[in-house]
Parts: sequence; structure tokens; C-alpha cells
Amino acid sequence: MKALFLAGGYGTRLRPFTFSKPKPLIDFANEPIILHQIKALHAVGVRTIVLAVNYQPSEMRKFAQEVKKELDIEIIFSFETEPLGTGGPLKLAEEHLKGDEPFFVLNSDVICDFPFAEMLEFHKKNKSEGTILATKVENPSRYGVIVHQENGKIERFVEKPQEFVGDRINAGIYILNPSVLDIIPLKWTSLEREIFPKLAKEEKIYCYHLNGFWMDVGKPGDFILGSTLYLKFISSQIKESKKVKIHGGVLIQGEDIQGTVLVPKQGREAVKIGENCRIGPNVIIGKNVRIGNGCRLKNCTIMDNVVIGQSSYIDNSIIGWGSHIGSWTRIQSHCFLGEDVTVRDECNVNGLTVCPHKGVNQNILETTIIL
Ligand code: GDD
Ligand code: MG
Repeated sequence: MKALFLAGGYGTRLRPFTFSKPKPLIDFANEPIILHQIKALHAVGVRTIVLAVNYQPSEMRKFAQEVKKELDIEIIFSFETEPLGTGGPLKLAEEHLKGDEPFFVLNSDVICDFPFAEMLEFHKKNKSEGTILATKVENPSRYGVIVHQENGKIERFVEKPQEFVGDRINAGIYILNPSVLDIIPLKWTSLEREIFPKLAKEEKIYCYHLNGFWMDVGKPGDFILGSTLYLKFISSQIKESKKVKIHGGVLIQGEDIQGTVLVPKQGREAVKIGENCRIGPNVIIGKNVRIGNGCRLKNCTIMDNVVIGQSSYIDNSIIGWGSHIGSWTRIQSHCFLGEDVTVRDECNVNGLTVCPHKGVNQNILETTIIL
């Protein structure tokens, strides 16, 4: 089977991290977001992947070569010279998607326990043109809302509704028949605003409900929330002795560890955690990270090659690749530090976003962006 990834757009909402890498390649739980998706697709027999891109393709090419080495999978690039939205890229890649079989389409910023096999079975049983993965959320106005019958047949699809329509939303993963390509023009087109409403009107599209966690990690705050949900999911699976593949690392335990803490595959040896630290819950630590003595970390992602001095406190924040955090610092309440950021000793910061290669030299207690 085949899958197309909508991997274009500029990922502006995931800045400052998307200043360094395209959104699909940002490390989520120590592995590029789309690698989680690719591995799950591979497990259900997908062997051809089309990456629909329009931004930093050289980074993506390097990534594709690494994936090809690791998995037996063909990766085709479909490059847009100008953004084609969420629908146009499918038409552009028509020659790769045409055939007798349905194909998967994925937004490249969604994380869940991908139920691809069950979804495919559901799609085949309904003999519909398309199946949308659906989930329930508390704030539906940020998403595409689905109104459906009990059997899953979609009656209405409303993208980012201004008024309450329902709380069942599009989780950003689809199975479509090649015939859907016939109604998509080769120009900027929105699947959500043009194609899905049309298919719903013609009663040709269904939704399959996702049980379990889901998150669009395309914004830093949601990225933190998604990481927590992911770690909770893994630890609950382990507790119930269910099989779970953690691609990007292993959970560790110890006197200094509280709740779920994920480190690289090589285990505790791949990182350095000083004495008298307390780490967790919900912490993800990347490769080659060095944490000084007496640090307190919770609800955060520390990306590869970060160095943290002693006695620092980090909560509810993301620390980008290769950043240097001084000693006795306090970093909390949604701080998003881009790649190679330096925070001076004793700085106390709240709600701070810092662009790559910048420094923080003073206390900053109100939501601020350092450009
Ligand atoms: N190739 C290509 N070209 N990809 C694009 C383009 C483009 O011009 N524009 C956006 N994309 C990709 C993004 O990279 C992302 O993977 C996907 O299309 C969806 O775009 P987002 O910008 O992340 O949309 P959203 O999060 O506001 O809403 C979408 O996702 C929600 C679920 O997370 C919609 O599909 C909603 O209906 C849905 O509920
Ligand atoms: Mg998104």
C-alpha cells in the first residue's frame, strides 16, 4: 500500500523549533514526528511513501535516505514550487497514487496509537470513497468538525467552525480511494474546506473513531501536552503487560526518577544525569544530554546535546538542540528555547520563547519572545 504525507507548509506555529528543521522532522519523544507515523504504516504493509513537500527538501532528502536504510520502503518526493494546500498535493502526486488500492493520507504533525489496520478494515467494509480518523476534543473550533450518523457516515464536515457544531473532529489521517483524485483540481485546494464537504454531501465518506490518546503537536504547548499523553500511554500499556513499541527510546527507573522518563535507546548511559537530581514525571531526554547535580526536571522535552548546569529547575518547557542552560536557573510555564540558546546562571524565566543562537542574560517573568 501507499501513503502520502502532507509535509509542506512552513510550520510557523511550531517556531522556534521550525527555524532549525521542517516541522515533520522535529523530534517528538526522540524521533522525528513523521518517523513515528512511517513505522506504524510500515507495520501494516505500506511500502511506498510520497512526501508532499515545499520547504527545505534537502533536510527531508537526508532523512529519507536514513529511513530507506532502516526500513524496506520506497520514498518518493513530490515537490511543490508553490504551496498547494492540503488537497492540491494529492493531485500533483496522482501518478504515484493511482491504481486499484486505496491509499493513506497523513497530516505530518499528529501523534496517536495509529490504528491503521482497524481503519483499513472499516474502510473496506463500508465500500466508501474515504475514511477519516476521528477523535473527540474539548476545543473543537481549532479543528475540522465531523457530524456523522451512528454507522460513521459523515453528514457534515466543517473546518474550524466559528459556532459549536460538535466535538468529534478530524484527526488528520485518511484513507482515500484513487477516485477521489478525480475531484481535486491541480491548484491550491483545501481537502477540509472543499473536498470533504463535497464527499459528505454525496454520502461517500465515513469516519472511524479513534480510541485512546491523540494530539496535533504542531504548536509548542500542544507538543508538551502530546508528549505527556504519549508517555502516559506507553506506561499504561507496560503496566497492563501489553505489547508496545517505543521507537525513540526507553523508559528508565531509579531513585532519582519520578513517573515516566524517556531516554535514548541506549539507556541511561546515553545521557548524563548528575547526583541528587529529581527527574520526572513526563520528561523526554535526548541523546548526549548532560544534566548537572541537583536539577529538578518535569513535564519537559530536552532535545539532543543540551547541557544543563547544576541546581536548575525546568518545568513545562522545551529546550532545543545543543542549548546551554546555566546553573541555578528556573525555566518554567511554557518556555520554548530554540536550537543553541544560552541561558546565563541564575536566570529565572517564565513563558519565554527564544529564537536559535540567542542568549538570555536576565530574569524574564512575562511572556516574551527573544528574536
Ligand atoms: N504539501 C503541503 N503543501 N502540505 C501542507 C500545505 C501545503 O501547502 N499546507 C499545509 N500542509 C500540511 C501541514 O504540514 C500539515 O501536515 C497538514 O498539511 C495540515 O496542516 P496544518 O497547518 O497542521 O492544519 P491544522 O492543524 O490547522 O488543521 C488540520 O489538522 C487538524 C488535525 O490536527 C486540518 O486537517 C483539520 O481538519 C484537522 O482537525
Ligand atoms: Mg496541524
